[in-house]
Amino acid sequence: MSIHTPRIEKKVTVRTISAMKGREPIVMITAYDALFSSIFDGEVEMILVGDSLNMSFLGERDTLGATLEQMIYHTKAVCNGATNSLIVLDMPFGSYDTPQKALENASRVYKETCAEALKIEGGKERAHIVRHLCDNGIAVVAHIGLMPQFVRSDGGYRVRGRSEEDIHRLLEDAVALEEAGAFVLLLEGMSSQAARRITESVSIPTIGIGAGRGTDGQVLVWSDMLGFFERFKPRFVKRYMSGAAEVREAVARYRDEVKRGVFPDDEHSYD
Ligand code: KIV
Repeated sequence: MSIHTPRIEKKVTVRTISAMKGREPIVMITAYDALFSSIFDGEVEMILVGDSLNMSFLGERDTLGATLEQMIYHTKAVCNGATNSLIVLDMPFGSYDTPQKALENASRVYKETCAEALKIEGGKERAHIVRHLCDNGIAVVAHIGLMPQFVRSDGGYRVRGRSEEDIHRLLEDAVALEEAGAFVLLLEGMSSQAARRITESVSIPTIGIGAGRGTDGQVLVWSDMLGFFERFKPRFVKRYMSGAAEVREAVARYRDEVKRGVFPDDEHSYD
């Protein structure tokens, strides 16, 4: 008997996600290629092709160098591996700073990939961009709180929503982005209280990362939650396996067996 909640057997759409608010927690994970998206497909409602790939895949220090070409390339790969989970492409830094540019780039993403929604970072000052995208048939996930694309201008990563004043600012952002048409709010790096109050104040689902229990769903970066990314581990990351250690151990066994002449044996050789 399976100890797990049921797999997702039907195609997840933006409507599925909207209908889940207050009914069932939404599960999201990142993926950057077909191999992993085919493993994650149906285990989670949403797959995010995050610009975090610039760090965990490319080894860069932050997400800012990711390009639209890279995001499209990886999203195509993720699309090739997944059929049921809803796929979201993370718009890279500098690709959506005016409504016109955002729509031009978003249209390109819709034409060239199977992504069903795009994620953009920014608060109420970017609500007009979200509105322009939504008015033109693009589904938007709006990302607020700790926004990695602002790491250089903010001088680092900072947990948000620790004062009443900051919670108020975040609430204003959330409401403006919902009014602009975003269908999901992604809440990163904020106090549990801030995330809970935002979730109660909007009618669209919220998905948290480092935002505590009070959201409508959770997202984690695959390489963090599977223990492959070892450079640092933020407090909010739970490692569900020790990926890097297990891979190292497997590769060491392979090395030993080749060096000792144990592999390949008859079972793994042609007659
Ligand atoms: O790029 C990414 O993986 C993200 C997550 C941190 C939500 O935006």
